[in-house]
Amino acid sequence: MARLIYFLIFVSGLVFIMNISKYEGEVSNDKFDFDKTAEANMKKKEEIEKLLAPKKEVKEKVKVVKAGPLVELSTPQLQSGHDLYKKCIVCHGKRGEGKAGQKAPAIGGQYEWYLNAQITNMQKGVRVNKVMMPYISRLSEQDISDLSAYISKLPYMGRK
Ligand code: HEC
Repeated sequence: MARLIYFLIFVSGLVFIMNISKYEGEVSNDKFDFDKTAEANMKKKEEIEKLLAPKKEVKEKVKVVKAGPLVELSTPQLQSGHDLYKKCIVCHGKRGEGKAGQKAPAIGGQYEWYLNAQITNMQKGVRVNKVMMPYISRLSEQDISDLSAYISKLPYMGRK
């Protein structure tokens, strides 16, 4: 009798094992969350990409310092003198330092009264300066005063 019982248990066990592969119960993926996994993978990917990305060179900001006018144009007269002086730069230089090639003397920082007198004299023909005449012939008295004021303030410190 005992043998029969053992035999039956054995057979039913065998049948159970044989049928286990045909199990068609509900298959669930609850434990495996695809969305979460995908999200985590994306994060990892981003981190790796960050590490692999070539480091961007930090471009130094180059400050462009524009040189201001040589003379602080604090009055309308200095502003006007500055504007009129543009015509003179070709021979006398930006700082009034003169130009040997033009035989143009240094005039920056010269006394205002002296500059005024020379320009006025040249204009009237008292002092003859043919090369400069085209540049000064049409200047008004006010223009000459403005120019003289500006040139006298140019920071020219002597010939190099
Ligand atoms: C084409 C060149 C040229 C230009 C432009 C020019 N000059 Fe002259 N300037 C000269 C020369 C050359 C002399 C020297 C002349 C001489 O032999 O006396 C001179 C002399 C002077 C002098 C006398 C300096 C001194 O020590 O006696 C003054 C002031 C002067 N220039 C002002 C000006 C002004 C202001 C302007 C612009 C409106 C000007 N010049 C434009 C060539 C130039």
